Amino acid sequence: MRLKNKPWAKPLIEANPQWVVTEPEKLKGKWQSRFEKDQPLYIEVGMGKGRFIVEMAKKYPDRNFIGLEMQTVATGIALKKQIEATLPNLQLVCANGAGLTEYFEKDEVAGVYLNFSDPWPKTRHEKRRLTYKSFLKQYQDVMVADGHLEFKTDNRGLFEYSLASMNNYGMVFDQVWLDLHATDAVIDNVMTEYEEKFSSKGQPIYKLEAHF
Ligand SMILES: C[S@@+](CC[C@H](N)C(=O)[O-])C[C@H]1O[C@@H](n2cnc3c(N)ncnc32)[C@H](O)[C@@H]1O
Repeated sequence: MRLKNKPWAKPLIEANPQWVVTEPEKLKGKWQSRFEKDQPLYIEVGMGKGRFIVEMAKKYPDRNFIGLEMQTVATGIALKKQIEATLPNLQLVCANGAGLTEYFEKDEVAGVYLNFSDPWPKTRHEKRRLTYKSFLKQYQDVMVADGHLEFKTDNRGLFEYSLASMNNYGMVFDQVWLDLHATDAVIDNVMTEYEEKFSSKGQPIYKLEAHF
């Protein structure tokens, strides 16, 4: 979803190059240099306002995280959270997830998160869905062989599409949840902004974990 323009967002990003990368291709193969410690790197594609990736970085200090987002305003809102939290294991990237293989070297990423990705329901927009085969290929290209993809959504149509797309690609499913918040898995679950909104209305949250 497109956010309303906020004139402060771009200057805030420009004033904080220690937290936000705007030319990720320059760091290909060198991402560990952006973190205090050399440790497995997890990325969220389409982090939105950043609640999930900030909370994950707090919860797992022995992992490094990158929140990638193509909207400047959303990146700016996530950056405000990171300025407050100053997490040494979190970096933000303002760029399009369609360029992942230009940003990351093969095997540079330990895991990928997709949360409440835009559904793009029209067939002519299928290629924009973050679980379309060209995106799956990119996740496969940058992730270690035993790396996992985790995907959550409230959108049943996108979830069904993603199950089919991943299955047709040859991915292996580890777990599938049709109502995540009604299971014990919710105890360890880190919520996103969209998840809070939809689950508080009683809508089921779908989740899957899969690998290549
Ligand atoms: C519906 S929002 C969900 C945000 C957040 N993950 C959450 O669950 O609250 C989807 C976000 O993905 C971003 N997005 C969509 N396609 C993207 C792409 N190709 N690269 C980077 N970000 C993308 C959008 O700009 C938007 O902020």
